[in-house]
Amino acid sequence: MGLLFGICIYLLFGSTLAVDRGNFKTCDQSAFCKRQRAMKPGQSPYRALLDTLELSDSRLTLQLINDNNKVHLLLELYRLQGNITRVKINELKPLKPRYEVPDVLVGDPSTQPLSVLSKDDNGMVLSLGAESQRLIVSARPFRLDIMEGPELLLSLNSRGLLAFEHLRLRKDTQADPEGAEVKENTDGEEQQDEEKKEEDGGKDNEDGLWEETFKSHTDSKPNGPTSISLDFSLPGVEHVYGIPEHADSLKLKTTDAGDPYRLYNLDVFQYELYNPMALYGSVPVMLAHNAQRTMGIFWLNAAETWVDISSNTAGKTVFGKMLDFVQGSSETPQTDVRWISESGIIDVFIMLGPKPSDVFTQYASLTGTQAFPPQAALAYHQCRWNYNDQDDVKAVDQGFDEHDIPYDFIWLDIEHTDGKRYFTWDPHKFSQPKEMLQNIMDKRRKMVTIVDPHIKIDSGYKIHNEISAKNFYVKNKDGRDYEGWCWPGNAGYPDFTNPEMRAWWASMFAYDQYEGTLENLYTWNDMNEPSVFNGPEVSMYKDAVHGNWEHRDVHNLYGFYVQMATAEGLVQRSGGTERPFVLTRSVFAGSQRFGAVWTGDNAAEWDHLKISIPMCLSLSLVGLSFCGADVGGFFKNPSTELLVRWYQTGAYQPFFRAHAHLDTTRREPWLFGPENTALMRDVVRQRYALLPYWYQQFYHAYKSGQPVMRPLWVEYPKDAATFTIDDEFLIGRDLLVHPVTEEGARGVTAYLPGTDEVWYDVHTFQKHSGAQNLYIPVTMSSIPVFQRGGSIIPRKVRVRRSSACMENDPYTLYVALSPEGIAEGELYIDDGHTFDFQTKKQFIHRSLTFAHNSLTSRNLCPECKFFTKSWIEKVFILGAKKPNKVVLQTDGQATAVEFEFDASLALLTLRKPGMNAGADWTVLLQ
Ligand SMILES: *[C@@H]1O[C@H](CO)[C@@H](O)[C@H](O)[C@H]1NC(C)=O
Repeated sequence: MGLLFGICIYLLFGSTLAVDRGNFKTCDQSAFCKRQRAMKPGQSPYRALLDTLELSDSRLTLQLINDNNKVHLLLELYRLQGNITRVKINELKPLKPRYEVPDVLVGDPSTQPLSVLSKDDNGMVLSLGAESQRLIVSARPFRLDIMEGPELLLSLNSRGLLAFEHLRLRKDTQADPEGAEVKENTDGEEQQDEEKKEEDGGKDNEDGLWEETFKSHTDSKPNGPTSISLDFSLPGVEHVYGIPEHADSLKLKTTDAGDPYRLYNLDVFQYELYNPMALYGSVPVMLAHNAQRTMGIFWLNAAETWVDISSNTAGKTVFGKMLDFVQGSSETPQTDVRWISESGIIDVFIMLGPKPSDVFTQYASLTGTQAFPPQAALAYHQCRWNYNDQDDVKAVDQGFDEHDIPYDFIWLDIEHTDGKRYFTWDPHKFSQPKEMLQNIMDKRRKMVTIVDPHIKIDSGYKIHNEISAKNFYVKNKDGRDYEGWCWPGNAGYPDFTNPEMRAWWASMFAYDQYEGTLENLYTWNDMNEPSVFNGPEVSMYKDAVHGNWEHRDVHNLYGFYVQMATAEGLVQRSGGTERPFVLTRSVFAGSQRFGAVWTGDNAAEWDHLKISIPMCLSLSLVGLSFCGADVGGFFKNPSTELLVRWYQTGAYQPFFRAHAHLDTTRREPWLFGPENTALMRDVVRQRYALLPYWYQQFYHAYKSGQPVMRPLWVEYPKDAATFTIDDEFLIGRDLLVHPVTEEGARGVTAYLPGTDEVWYDVHTFQKHSGAQNLYIPVTMSSIPVFQRGGSIIPRKVRVRRSSACMENDPYTLYVALSPEGIAEGELYIDDGHTFDFQTKKQFIHRSLTFAHNSLTSRNLCPECKFFTKSWIEKVFILGAKKPNKVVLQTDGQATAVEFEFDASLALLTLRKPGMNAGADWTVLLQ
């Protein structure tokens, strides 16, 4: 949730408020960004010293020299398994170590042999193994080019914007070269200027090399300038995606005319849309795509980062490009990208694809895959700031039953605590938490409480006392505990970068530590950017200290570590058996391993509903599949129409939670008249029916790193019509969703991709051909969803009050035939909440195929053991022909199956075939 002063603004100005941009830096107000951006292309001072080449089996090193200041850098090149090239650049002899991001990579990436194909005075050619992929190192100026056959895929430093600000001593001090301390000296500016003239070509004192002030906050920079930058050219590429989190379109825009995209985790109050400003999370991964290839760039750096994008085709219309082509004047389209970070080293992974799915696999091999959530976490979540007390919780819980709307989780925001002391309960409003949790558990439902990382400084608070006694708080630059202002008032911030701190934090979730908790209580980490109400840009001072490092170095990792430690706590309290569920607001690369993310404090506006699609798609593209936006919008009161449309959209996004600000009017789904209750009930029930499919998609995301929510181009990479679509999306491969996000909509136009595809409307079973824009008239009950011909989707259509209640319910299979009359799908079943699927292979995984008029279930994991009571109660075959007879073969027996055929829809319905969902069986249409 947003800021304290934000709330005051809200109360004063109601609906006219927007982000106070002045609270957040532009590139010009961020000294290193401004310095770096002032560099002109084409003047690279860097030269590769080819005689310093050292080549071991898998690692090549080479020194680079900056001819302006003679500082040497060390370049390391690695070829990693699966078409990934890693490029590291650090100072050869830094005054002290520079920060290298730990804990994000899942292991030491496995390397593959590199070999030099040829070498002369100008450079060398290295083999990257696969498919004639080569890396060309040019010496003067230094430049890297990656080629495949005759094709140039990507170049580094081709525009000469590599810049590496080496660590240096401030000339006006007497600090010894090994010492970290650099004394303040207010009269030394002339000397400092001289040094800068000498080393940096005469920049003036406004460059903020050793100190910088923003609003009332001064950042002392004991290490001086440390920023780094590198440019990448992508010939043949017009579309780049990723680098969340921004409230912007899916396809990234060029940034020449404004600010670069900023990656710096911040609590931005009432964020503005279609804007490159930083938000709560940073995942420094960009995907580049054209009809031939998809590639990725992973810039592993946790400091404040800015990304510039430019394109030689920007601003040209399709007509303009056609004209260029006809006139023969067309140049190859090219996108140029430049990354700029404040500190650390250059450590970049170039993922060469070539298919989108290859890039996802490559990225997953580096940072891991989506945690496989408990199945209930994929169901519906009811949240608001706040459910006031136990009676309120009880009434809301009953409200769902009375209105026959399923839900799985009810959430408690900060007001449930004893004075914003996390891990406690308000003694009056929540005096019997176990009883409350037990009541919820009796209905097989669950609860989430919020646990934020700011800790109230209060000598009567156990959590504070222990962190303080163990010396686990982040420090000020002067070595005392850092204090900031947040919900509890004065607060300390635990140093989550410290593994001992994380282990202690995890232990606080044990049932005997976090009193009043039961196993159906899960966790929400908010404000973990970290948000500091009175700090610079509402966050922590960059010169605050985490062990050996400045906050500057680790900033974008703070929230990652908070969620990591929290998830570990939930696993530990169960003795390692139960899957955790932790929602976080702040993320970094790799956060997918710890749980879910939501898009923060959005607003009850139509544009915010629309942007939820590209925001979650951008996160999905970089590994974070478990994404959602607050249904209804956090700030302000949605119109009933907007609320209904938001339920319809959210029900088809991965993380489905309604949430609302303290000052909004209540909006449980039954408060808007029976007609609207029915609309919301209907779509929540659609979600529950589809849970088997969602769960299966998450199983695949966990196994293989493929995203759950996908832009269309991921599945139709050659179809340029899909490249900019971000008002519709796919769930897995087989469901296409075009939510209604326009006020007063009478219809939507959905693009159905695939020249060889057919798509079936999931509500009417009507068939439509692919590669067309389809106009769909809509009413308030419409949520356009299509199933791909060629797929089989399982549902559980007997919706009950929670997902756990549906565990043993039967399946209905929706077999949608391709034009060739075939289809395939899967069934994945396990206990829904433990790690037994992983540790004991206790699951069922079956492939379902329809071909030659027979539908067969085949075991994909013969060594697996799991028993389900669920059976197949119905099969719909869409696009079928009328059979004379339908026969089920199972267990060596053949039985006739009742069926119906609707000729107008070509719909064959098999009634109660009745086989167990885990069994081998075949249904023959004769
Ligand atoms: C590596 O790239 C080659 C050539 O583009 C491709 O054929 C191969 O499938 C890729 N391998 C992986 C593991 O992505």
